[in-house]
Amino acid sequence: MKLKLARVSKSFDGHRVLDEVSLSIEKAHTLALIGPSGGGKTTLLRIIAGLEYPDAGEIEINDRRMVFEEEDLLRHRRSVGTVFQAFNLFPHLSALENITLPLEKVHDRSSAEAGTIARELLSRFRLEPHGAKRPAELSGGQRQRVAIARAIAIKPNLLLFDEPTSALDPEMTAEVLDMIKELRDEGRDFILVTHEMGFARQVADQVALIADGRIAESGAAEQVFDHPQNERSREFLAKVLKY
Ligand SMILES: Nc1ncnc2c1ncn2[C@@H]1O[C@H](COP(=O)(O)OP(=O)(O)OP(=O)(O)O)[C@@H](O)[C@H]1O
Ligand SMILES: [Mg+2]
Repeated sequence: MKLKLARVSKSFDGHRVLDEVSLSIEKAHTLALIGPSGGGKTTLLRIIAGLEYPDAGEIEINDRRMVFEEEDLLRHRRSVGTVFQAFNLFPHLSALENITLPLEKVHDRSSAEAGTIARELLSRFRLEPHGAKRPAELSGGQRQRVAIARAIAIKPNLLLFDEPTSALDPEMTAEVLDMIKELRDEGRDFILVTHEMGFARQVADQVALIADGRIAESGAAEQVFDHPQNERSREFLAKVLKY
């Protein structure tokens, strides 16, 4: 993916959460957004996902400028796969239906096709015994896996994940990591928000460190992790890499 952010700003209740964020990435398969809590990572990812309007600024994904108007955003949202912290599964649908329904209603798959895809993904994430359960009857990690399964079911070219492994045990984290690598090898691109530096280091080729609504540092993953230039990012990395 090629990504260009030009002076993207966003305020909530007069508080500037993103402050003229600019970032230009010529080519990345996996971009990790890291940085301290409250820095603006989720807000930026939601804007890129077309779920939130910026107050100012421009975004280009693969040379296409995002148009922040409802109809264009609707099309954009359908083309990306998203997993956010609040997984927004449909509460009244079973795990299986949460995956099949968007495939049928939004992506025009037949119900047989949708069922096959969904069952394959449930099995991949070791969720077969839970296909009939509603989100409220699933554990946090199970819900997270259903949300990931749903996001990748449409095989989008761009996947936006906000802390996809935050509620998973180490084994499942490895499973999700493998899945991300596999999808990446198929040519799909990721923007990942993560607090897990080991994970970011393993999967990301580009990293942007966001603190206090600004990009403190960005560049190739090894560069940012091993030779951070900016004082704020040095401080952050020294803290999080210590343990
Ligand atoms: N809808 C909202 N209304 C008001 N304030 C918001 C809203 N969404 C986010 N914020 C504020 O914006 C700031 C950035 O939030 P954001 O969720 O983007 O941070 P983050 O970097 O993802 O943090 P974390 O690592 O804890 O998830 C925070 O101070 C948060 O309280
Ligand atoms: Mg967040």
